[in-house]
Amino acid sequence: MVGFGTVNLALGRGKLNLRHGRIIKAKMKTKTKSKKVNKAWLNDHVNDPYVKLAQKEGYRARAAFKLKEIDETLGLIKPGQLIVDLGSTPGAWSQYVRRKLSPKTATGGGAAAGELNGCIIALDILPMEPVEGVTFLQGDFREPEVLARLESAVAGRLADVVVSDMAPNLSGIESADAARIAHLVELAVEFAKAHLKPEGSLVVKLFHGSGYDDLVRLFRSTFRVVKPFKPKASRDKSSETFLVGMGVKPGLES
Ligand SMILES: C[S@@+](CC[C@H](N)C(=O)[O-])C[C@H]1O[C@@H](n2cnc3c(N)ncnc32)[C@H](O)[C@@H]1O
Repeated sequence: MVGFGTVNLALGRGKLNLRHGRIIKAKMKTKTKSKKVNKAWLNDHVNDPYVKLAQKEGYRARAAFKLKEIDETLGLIKPGQLIVDLGSTPGAWSQYVRRKLSPKTATGGGAAAGELNGCIIALDILPMEPVEGVTFLQGDFREPEVLARLESAVAGRLADVVVSDMAPNLSGIESADAARIAHLVELAVEFAKAHLKPEGSLVVKLFHGSGYDDLVRLFRSTFRVVKPFKPKASRDKSSETFLVGMGVKPGLES
């Protein structure tokens, strides 16, 4: 995924147009080096089976297949639930959840539009194009005012599942980046403690490296069951991974 909005890259005489990481038009005549985007990454992206699948199935980003695999393995998301999607832009996880909450019909259900059995609240620091049936709030999850807006959207209900794909802008300075990542995960855990049903689940993205073990310890002290998860759609060379916490330990609700 490459940020929000549309990015046009001139690669030699070819042109690549990326919108939320979706390839709209690609002619890979790469004569000159792009200063902005690594050519190897682009090549991987263009040939990535999950990118192609995302286009075919109408997802805004290949990230949809990470949540899909986690969900299909652990059976987290079901019709009728309240789901909170943190770090939702461009919206692929929201799209996946929305389809999962659409009522089953004789023709199979899983519709991207129409009736929705459940509630989805999504939040991101960046804008997000609407996903039908999804309530979107724009703001920085670290800000108390944004948390208060999210809490008023939740309106006293308890969530069944909180998912967080939030990823900070990385500086390349390992200790600073680890602290930023840890902070977002810790805030997601705090939110889950206050707003998840006792049997609810939290899915977070994090990265192997410094700080990882502390976050696993935090999850183990918060949830009855903790499962580390590296979905197939998460690139092997990426240190990205996911933690799933299921069932908040009694007495921890804040
Ligand atoms: C990998 S993207 C999420 C992709 C999304 N799950 C999807 O399927 O389309 C990470 C998102 O986290 C958001 N983010 C990072 N820090 C944030 C913060 N402090 N508050 C809210 N969103 C944040 C970024 O703006 C970015 O859109």
